[in-house]
Amino acid sequence: MHEEVARGRARLASLIAGDADGHDLLMRYDRWAPDLWAGLAEVYAAADVLPAVVDVIAAVHQQRPSPLRERDRERLLRPDWFQDEHAVGYVAYTDLFAGDLAGVAQHIDYLTDLGVTYLHLMPLLTPRPGANDGGYAVMDYRSVRSDLGTMADLAALARSLHSAGISLTLDLVLNHVAREHVWAQKAQGGDPKYRDYFRIFDDRTVPDEYEATLPEVFPAFAPGNFTWDEDLSGWVWTTFNEWQWDLNWANPDVLVEFVDIIGFLANQGADCIRLDAIAFIWKRMGTNCQNQPEVHALTQALRAATRIMSPAVVFKAEAIVGPQDVIAYLGQGSHAGRVSDLAYHNSLMVQIWSALAARDGRLLVAALSRFDAIPATTSWATYLRCHDDIGWAIDDADAGAVGWDGFSHRSFLAEFYSGEFEGSFAAGAHFQSNPLTGDRRTSGTAASLAGVETALHSGDAATLSTAIERLICAYAMVFGFGGLPLIYMGDEWGLLNDEGYLADPAKAGDNRWMHRPAMDWDTVSHPVIGSMSARINAAVRDLIRARHHLPALHANVSTECRVTDDPAVLVFRRRHPAGTLIEVYNLSESTRVVWPGDLAPLASGSLHEHISDTTMVIDGPTQLPPYAAWWLTSA
Ligand code: GLC
Repeated sequence: MHEEVARGRARLASLIAGDADGHDLLMRYDRWAPDLWAGLAEVYAAADVLPAVVDVIAAVHQQRPSPLRERDRERLLRPDWFQDEHAVGYVAYTDLFAGDLAGVAQHIDYLTDLGVTYLHLMPLLTPRPGANDGGYAVMDYRSVRSDLGTMADLAALARSLHSAGISLTLDLVLNHVAREHVWAQKAQGGDPKYRDYFRIFDDRTVPDEYEATLPEVFPAFAPGNFTWDEDLSGWVWTTFNEWQWDLNWANPDVLVEFVDIIGFLANQGADCIRLDAIAFIWKRMGTNCQNQPEVHALTQALRAATRIMSPAVVFKAEAIVGPQDVIAYLGQGSHAGRVSDLAYHNSLMVQIWSALAARDGRLLVAALSRFDAIPATTSWATYLRCHDDIGWAIDDADAGAVGWDGFSHRSFLAEFYSGEFEGSFAAGAHFQSNPLTGDRRTSGTAASLAGVETALHSGDAATLSTAIERLICAYAMVFGFGGLPLIYMGDEWGLLNDEGYLADPAKAGDNRWMHRPAMDWDTVSHPVIGSMSARINAAVRDLIRARHHLPALHANVSTECRVTDDPAVLVFRRRHPAGTLIEVYNLSESTRVVWPGDLAPLASGSLHEHISDTTMVIDGPTQLPPYAAWWLTSA
């Protein structure tokens, strides 16, 4: 053991002397402190930082309620709880789902009935007043937005969720705080300790040098990456909105603060911490200031500290970055398995929408085949829609590999999903059009983007059926990819775009609110048999039921993707020791053909199709209906 790590152990042992679970804590320290040390040493003078981290670990451990210590022991015995075929995620805003935290507690039955095992409640810590980026401008990490309840309500909800078999995910914004956060206010007051929590520059010289290589995240409503602040008499780094101040992670005090915050949230009962905008936390001149190696070293240090103080807790990386960069968030090289446990599969999401617009799976196959395997202890979080817009992250090289032009295809997708493209089935809207780069992103709910809204307006029953099948085909890919599928609240009933946000001045400027509708409890309690919503809900439930019988969907093997001789017929193959699963998808509204050879290594003949729970015989060319999704194993 490194001398400093040993000294840290002695410090920890004396701090927790007499604690009933002290021996377990020290065993975990022995197991994970080398990771903590290595992460710290990549970025800081580790010997100076470790004692402060050890002090936080001891305090968090001592405050950890005994039911959560019990949960730590359970989770250490079942570390793959978020990877297996039973894992189903649900993502909701507390207020839009159920009014407040007490309301969520009253709807736990709804979630368990649906099969949900993981609930991500969107940002609920106290944000700045007024516009706050959907809660991602946090003013206080230790209190709950007052209209939603209190921290005690949150802890009580976590306990109820745990009893119902549901794990709770909370957002943690690491890259920035609200201008109104106490750290920012002290910096504005001239306190040098807190000025050093931010990146502040006297004049434009250094910001301009950075700007030369920095992209803009919100070009339309927050151009530029720096904001002049009178009280600071300086330019402060603001990647997102001008009231979201980027933190200075080169200052180890910031890391220690966040270890403490993670411990605090863990002790309220959080099971998963979603690391918001994690890609941005380290800045390097001459780069786009995303995905820098230090990001992973810092995550490793946070992860190791968390494993020691609250081992039930996992991390989910929100890194919406290119295919070549995202894998590092699950750990590559010396960081493999030592950083986040979950990461959003943004490329899969983009490629599903792209394949549906093009009725062609070749680009999806080219893009996903380039992904390296992920550490066996980690998982993708797969999703079709979330609270954010869709950025058309199509890689030029991937597009080139199938003979397409990346820029043209991105433009096509933006136009297609806004509904502008001739013949498009989609009803979405442009988000953050950037005249400089030609980049346009897209807002809209899953059902509206998949054609359900347009079909309802057309009044044509056949068009509506096709749109529902398209939506379900897309969700089947999300559920069948392996890993943790996330249902975005309301998608299980096909909720459509909602323009209601336009009436709220704090939301009106941000059309991402169009795809954040309130839950439609009338439909939930009185579903009309045969209606659009009821059909979608039944189909989503079929996917969840089918998943439960398929250990091959465990995240620890990867999905091989290919198209058959017909580019509209996509095949996912999951070769798992529990048995091979072959998934076939028709990406088009016309009938296609599948051959026994397309299903290798399954032998031709009698097969079990799990979504419809039927037996099929495929021993020759077989018709694949429009938007069919088949999950096949040998019968
Ligand atoms: C993440 C959130 C997004 C937010 C941004 C800045 O990307 O998902 O909604 O705007 O971080 O916090």
